[in-house]
Amino acid sequence: MFEGKPEPQCLEVELGPRSYPVYIRAGCLKHLGKLIIQAGLGPKGLLVTNTTVADYYATLTQSSLEQAGLQVRSVAIPDGEAYKNLEWASRLYDAALEAQLDRRSPVIALGGGVIGDLAGFVAATYLRGVPLVQVPTTLLAQVDSSVGGKVAVNHIQGKNLIGSFYQPSLVVIDPHILKTLPARELIAGLAEVIKYGVIWDAEFFAFLEEKVEKALVLSMEVIEPIIARCCAIKAEIVKLDEREEGIRTLLNFGHTVGHAVETLTHYQVYRHGEAVALGMLAAGWIALELGRWSLSEFQRLRELLQRTGLPLHVPGADPRKLQELMVHDKKNLQGALRWVLPRSLGQAEINRQVPEELVRRALEKLVS
Ligand code: NAD
Ligand code: GLY
Repeated sequence: MFEGKPEPQCLEVELGPRSYPVYIRAGCLKHLGKLIIQAGLGPKGLLVTNTTVADYYATLTQSSLEQAGLQVRSVAIPDGEAYKNLEWASRLYDAALEAQLDRRSPVIALGGGVIGDLAGFVAATYLRGVPLVQVPTTLLAQVDSSVGGKVAVNHIQGKNLIGSFYQPSLVVIDPHILKTLPARELIAGLAEVIKYGVIWDAEFFAFLEEKVEKALVLSMEVIEPIIARCCAIKAEIVKLDEREEGIRTLLNFGHTVGHAVETLTHYQVYRHGEAVALGMLAAGWIALELGRWSLSEFQRLRELLQRTGLPLHVPGADPRKLQELMVHDKKNLQGALRWVLPRSLGQAEINRQVPEELVRRALEKLVS
């Protein structure tokens, strides 16, 4: 039974020569500089953050880096998904060149998934790759995007179209930082947390059912083990399939419909996690209709999403448009639309043959 304490506070993502530690401890931001030095990185570096996160954490972060003897150039970009692009990557290259960063100089990403993806992309490409230190500050980034090595910027034609797999050298997670995160962002991050329970760990799902209200008020004795369990699951999956050629696809549970919802609403209405919650419901309903999942477990998922404060419907959306967007996505994926469907809590499967009619009905249910 997952009781909230089985993970050590330092996990290892085991990828042979690309292995790296993930530190998780409330209050550890003040030790960031020491951890970077211990990892053998520096003495120069580039700190990438955004203006919102900088207001809260730049002073503490910079003093930790300086005290450890690191000479770090800082860039705070404007806050928002719109800045995760090649133009801002280029400005970061300029800053890296001006600061004369060399191959041992880390790029340090202090922020949510936007900063992690952008700074990660820069680390992957500057001088053909310099060390990346992820310091995630949203729940989504702490449980998902900072681990596993997906880095990217957006293109005018779509999100994350320019990117790579590039593993960090170090991930430092301070759950205490979440105290300043807007409630909606916390809730959106919890959708990704619930995802891990459905696809990988039934006991963890049950733990979330028991403790979700405590997670919502950021009780550290609950949120810390939650983050640790998610990172451990992600590490396990990434170790099995670093480049998403097979089982890593399970991490996309809820994303097929979720992406269509985000695109339809121009990324203006739903946070990524909220769209994923909607997508998990649609995929769950499809699995139910195919006779491959039980009604009682589907209802448990629905109830947990509801208690977390996540949306259960997309009012007013046109199901045909949502379906068209998914077909468009499918073309981008060279015809391989892969549905991730639950089989039982803690176990999911990839299905490439969901009938279009069933998808239509799932979407109709979602918008009603
Ligand atoms: P985000 O980075 O935009 O952060 C959300 C908001 O929270 C922003 O306004 C940010 O300034 C603010 N914020 C961040 N930390 C804060 C803190 N501690 N206190 C107060 N405010 C804080 O959004 P996100 O949800 O973290 O990330 C979304 C991005 O992540 C998308 O670009 C998505 O494509 C990407 N993503 C990447 C992966 C991956 O594996 N690489 C996985 C999932 C999502
Ligand atoms: N966020 C999904 C993955 O990293 O594969």
